Amino acid sequence: MNFVSFEGKVVLITGAGNGLGKSHALMFARLGARVVVNDYGTTAKGEGADKSPADAVVDEIKSLGGEAVANADSVEDGARLVETAMDAFGRIDIVVNNAGFLRDTSFHKMSESDWFDIINVHLNGAFMVNRAAWPLLREQNFGRIVNTASAAGIYGNFGQVNYSSAKLALHGMTQALAIEGQKRNILVNTVAPAAASRLTDTVISREQTAALRPEYVSPLVGYLCSEESSQSGGLFEAGAGWFGKLRWERSRGAALKGEITPDDIAKNIDAISDFSDATHPRNIAEAFAPFGEAMGAAVAAR
Ligand code: NAI
Repeated sequence: MNFVSFEGKVVLITGAGNGLGKSHALMFARLGARVVVNDYGTTAKGEGADKSPADAVVDEIKSLGGEAVANADSVEDGARLVETAMDAFGRIDIVVNNAGFLRDTSFHKMSESDWFDIINVHLNGAFMVNRAAWPLLREQNFGRIVNTASAAGIYGNFGQVNYSSAKLALHGMTQALAIEGQKRNILVNTVAPAAASRLTDTVISREQTAALRPEYVSPLVGYLCSEESSQSGGLFEAGAGWFGKLRWERSRGAALKGEITPDDIAKNIDAISDFSDATHPRNIAEAFAPFGEAMGAAVAAR
């Protein structure tokens, strides 16, 4: 008997015809969930459309005795994905935004479509799906959402200005949605995975492929989507069996007084950037604390 179980729950996983999404779908199904397997069936660069990847994963789940239904719409039509869940199973509890592709190129060569196609599939796609699911999650006072980010978004990466932008924006969505969902038991988190898939085919070796199985990422997604989790607004990294969590770190900073010029910043840039006595603001109220102190000091000095 598993502690984490998804009996009675309906999970929608986008881009679940391949790679990480497929692994997530099989895990959720094994743990009792009814699964909507969404996949538009594109190439790794986002070309074409094909229903067979979604159908194949549904067949695999059914052959294991699980329950699943396929949806081959694009995440950009998010409402249709949620409709599939409602039509097939009458509810939706969990959304894993995972669909996407790459359009890597250095910034000076990036076309408008390289930019917009990537923003559309990763960021706008997650928006469209989350927006369609959100009222249903609110109504039932239960929901779990995982948005899929990337190290490229957290740290930046050459040739991925479009993708890095979309992926970090997804964590912005996570953080704000987590606040809005708090009262309704809707927990929202971001996972930045590292796993061998079509997307990494050209950059990793065969040995790395064996170590970076998508199945090593799915358990974190499963936990974050479970009733047992109370994590929300978090940013996690996972790959090859290693799991970690990130948070913001801010320098203690420097409060300057009087008429402040760029020269004053120059004189104090080391103090401003000194992380030796860093803080870790957890929310906007904590983040504003130094401004409040500086304002108080300014008022007292008048
Ligand atoms: P993958 O290419 O194996 O799977 C992505 C799936 O998304 C494909 O089956 C594709 O058909 C589907 N898809 C593409 N456009 C779609 C659309 N408009 N609507 C619905 N489905 C669509 O890729 P992988 O590696 O499994 O990636 C999954 C997610 O993880 C992506 O968001 C990716 O950016 C992210 N990621 C993956 C990393 C890795 O190491 N594999 C690293 C960091 C992030």
